[in-house]
Amino acid sequence: METTVFGKTGRVVSRIGFGGAVAGLKNYLHEYDPASDEAKSRVHGALEAALKHSISYFDTAPGYGNGASESLFGDVLGGVDPGSIFLATKCPAFSNEGGVSDYDHVLRSAEQSLKRLRRDYVDLLQLHGGSYTDAQAERVLGEKGALQALEKLKKDGVARHIGFTTEDNNRAMYEFFRSGRFDSVQLCYNVLFQHPYEPSRPFGALYEAEKNGLGIAAMRATTSGTFQRWMQAVRPGDAFDYTAALIQFVLSNPLVDVVLIGMRSKERVLQNVAIMDDLAGRVDLSKIHERYV
Ligand SMILES: NC(=O)c1ccc[n+]([C@@H]2O[C@H](COP(=O)([O-])OP(=O)(O)OC[C@H]3O[C@@H](n4cnc5c(N)ncnc54)[C@H](OP(=O)(O)O)[C@@H]3O)[C@@H](O)[C@H]2O)c1
Repeated sequence: METTVFGKTGRVVSRIGFGGAVAGLKNYLHEYDPASDEAKSRVHGALEAALKHSISYFDTAPGYGNGASESLFGDVLGGVDPGSIFLATKCPAFSNEGGVSDYDHVLRSAEQSLKRLRRDYVDLLQLHGGSYTDAQAERVLGEKGALQALEKLKKDGVARHIGFTTEDNNRAMYEFFRSGRFDSVQLCYNVLFQHPYEPSRPFGALYEAEKNGLGIAAMRATTSGTFQRWMQAVRPGDAFDYTAALIQFVLSNPLVDVVLIGMRSKERVLQNVAIMDDLAGRVDLSKIHERYV
């Protein structure tokens, strides 16, 4: 298993990360019930296979099925030596409860996550985005905002590292990078959405994150199905499996530490470990971008 150092966290992690959204969300992509015995046992099998094949980065969130994904992770990862894996979860950046501050909301969310994950601490706690306007970014970074709560949890050892996730590539994201207060970012980057990486300028969020020493995880590496649906629209009946090529594209990026892939069966884990191990499938991105110069 290829590994890397995850930015300023200094932790060595697998370059492929086990994404937990699909395990906990009802009817994600197709009919699926995370509460069914069959789904639970398949996800448990997937997590066990991931451990067996040295995947060490695991990513979940309370928002993935109202705690369902975290509970499934806890069932298997709760019994594992905490030092042998890198467990990441998330929390909402904003309180939706009247009278409860963002600060207190984050603390409460983290406490509930730890119970579901059956752990005393997590390796990474991330603000779960979304998209941040300038005003929201200011709220996150401000007095008694979500980030101050993350910093308290880090000081208390409950979250070893802190980060944020974002679907955007906007000013708020750059504010977060430049604050110097985050250890990692999880962002959207794939063959369709390449704004974060423009090597011919060079320009983009991946460069900025790297410059600030952040650990970088890429989500939506397989375009969350958009590319595949597009191919079906323009080449109906095309049976080619594009997923491996999409994953290899993101793995080929020298600035991306971890490529997250949603997995909820042992078969998918084995498939993705084989893609990871197929180093011949990597491409030279500087050559692909050459024409822009
Ligand atoms: N804002 C945020 O923080 C945010 C947003 C999105 C994603 N994420 C993170 O990123 C992870 C990945 O999310 P995603 O949306 O990009 O999901 P994804 O990786 O596109 O996964 C979706 C589906 O791809 C299929 N799949 C996986 N490996 C495959 C392979 N080798 N060949 C063919 N199909 C394969 C699986 O379908 P089957 O069910 O058929 O096996 C899986 O359910 C999430 O789990 C989460 O951890 C975070």
